[in-house]
Amino acid sequence: METGSLDKGIFSGESSGTREDIVALLTKAYWMEIETVMSYIAASTNLDGVRAQEIREALAEDVEEELGHAKEFANRIKELYGVVPGSQEFQAEQGFLQPPEHQTDVVAVIRGVIKAETGAIEHYTRIVEETEGVDPVTQDMVISILRDEQGHRRLFEGFLREYEFEGKA
Ligand SMILES: [Fe+2]
Ligand SMILES: [Fe+2]
Repeated sequence: METGSLDKGIFSGESSGTREDIVALLTKAYWMEIETVMSYIAASTNLDGVRAQEIREALAEDVEEELGHAKEFANRIKELYGVVPGSQEFQAEQGFLQPPEHQTDVVAVIRGVIKAETGAIEHYTRIVEETEGVDPVTQDMVISILRDEQGHRRLFEGFLREYEFEGKA
């Protein structure tokens, strides 16, 4: 695609391969966020019990944040001349975040959330690396999302620590 010879950086003709690579990474990130929204809605709704209330509320808050991330990734895909995929291209990967056998199994959900957040942290760290010196705008956006995911993981690691301390995890 020709975007003009005066255009520099990620939109220049020479960068079109790189731009496609970044769109592919952003598309994966978009699907990760969408799947996380599904998993967190289910978990925040399904969990039962007095102890689960805190976790349910934290997950319900995260649903909104992850949805916001999905929208940010979608917008950036478009800005880079990509196309946000349709639902038929979706492939589920969060086997570890399916509803547990018992809906009072808070620890299973906490561990699943930590795994999901870790996966996001790994993928977004890769995007930050791949955009270094190439696409500072995408990099800046992903750094800020990465910080959110680190915060989510830290929160749930704290929850897990409490259960471990009490010998319930
Ligand atoms: Fe997210
Ligand atoms: Fe997150």
